[in-house]
Amino acid sequence: MSHLKIAVDGPGGAGKSSVCKEVARRLNLLYIDTGALYRTVGLYIKRAGIDPEDREAVAAALPALSITVRAEQGRQIISLDGTPVGDEIRTQEISMYASRVSAIPAVRAKLLDYQRSFAEEYDVILDGRDIGTVIFPDAEVKIFLTASPEARAHRRYLELQAKGVDVTEEQVLAEMNERDRADSTRESAPLAAAPDAVLLDTSDLDFEGSIDAVISLIKARRYALSPEKAKKVKKQKRSYRFFYYTLGWIIRFFHRIKVTGRENIPRAGGGILCANHIAILDIFSIGASVPRPINFLAKRELFKIPILSSLIRSAGAIPLERKKTDLGAIRRSTELAANGNLVAIFPQGHRQPGKNPADTEYKSGAALVAYRSGVPIIPICIKMKGQKYRIFRKTEIIIGKPLSQEELGFVNGGSAEYRDAAAKVFNEICRLGNFERTLPAPEQENE
Ligand code: DC
Repeated sequence: MSHLKIAVDGPGGAGKSSVCKEVARRLNLLYIDTGALYRTVGLYIKRAGIDPEDREAVAAALPALSITVRAEQGRQIISLDGTPVGDEIRTQEISMYASRVSAIPAVRAKLLDYQRSFAEEYDVILDGRDIGTVIFPDAEVKIFLTASPEARAHRRYLELQAKGVDVTEEQVLAEMNERDRADSTRESAPLAAAPDAVLLDTSDLDFEGSIDAVISLIKARRYALSPEKAKKVKKQKRSYRFFYYTLGWIIRFFHRIKVTGRENIPRAGGGILCANHIAILDIFSIGASVPRPINFLAKRELFKIPILSSLIRSAGAIPLERKKTDLGAIRRSTELAANGNLVAIFPQGHRQPGKNPADTEYKSGAALVAYRSGVPIIPICIKMKGQKYRIFRKTEIIIGKPLSQEELGFVNGGSAEYRDAAAKVFNEICRLGNFERTLPAPEQENE
């Protein structure tokens, strides 16, 4: 099986290495910091007393250069002449050496195979300057991570200060501008975004925000829809909107729906809507209350009823087999959410009319889909007087704030995390409706 390749390029100080390291940890990828390879060559050239501007001398010294790279617990360990290199490659002086030697084609050629070889064995994320353009033009995901020079200089300044290096912010900015200029104007593999790279500006994002953005890009790519599927989804959205504007007001009127928290529905991007389930018409109540097309998971039996079947199919409902874990439905929901759509799931699985939702059981499939697709979960509480459906009975739809991946407690995924996240969501649904448990806690099922 071929391995996943993620290319992250961009100027120094954009946060590439810290972001990639954390993304690699969370998604279980091997992280390769290619700048460290150039820095190691810089260190070697400095130790050999060679002028890094002297291209011939540098090229002549390369055959004797012995760099080895190995992966240890998802981290790369670089050794120069058999000894692992550490912080000595992180000084300002070595930064300049690295920038100079990296402009020499012979150096770039020497490091090419090192960088490519990892993808033969592992799913990798590489950061550098030419990963998406030269090293892996066929990378599945290409990101160009950047930030304003001021923002980058400020971050690097804080980093250097923390290490006790005595510099001013102005010096760091001047040095960074110089390195940017050298890296982007050199002839050999200059710093440039690949035409198919996604540009991500982190000037106004904090660390978590940058990680979330990178992970969502990766997930959207990993679950990319084929052009035919994307076309179908677009068509379904058009039908959905048609139903929303024709049937929506009728449902709102007869069902006497009162909606609170409509502003909690993100205007764009994927999300999982999780609601308690009382009546068959819950689907319509939610649909009529949320001003964006929704893909509902609906029991497979409904797809056998004539007319209804073609209606829900054309509006993008996803058939769900409830007796066993339905991998197809999970995959379909994940794809849709990862591609910026809203997917509605009733974690209770069945309607629970007349029951206090806090006393019912729920499943964790919705949390699994949220984790895989990298989107938030929006809790929704449906309340009806007496908790039994009657036409003309007042229905309350209370939409809670989206719960981010972090708030859901996702780190590496896994059934324990999904169970905890599902519990958080369900508690939030009950809190929104002021439902309190009256029975001892039920045993929760795994997904
Ligand atoms: O990302 P960094 O600051 O550790 O990189 C050190 C130098 O190496 C930088 O000046 C540009 C160069 N480099 C490169 O030319 N190509 C890469 N893929 C990575 C780094």
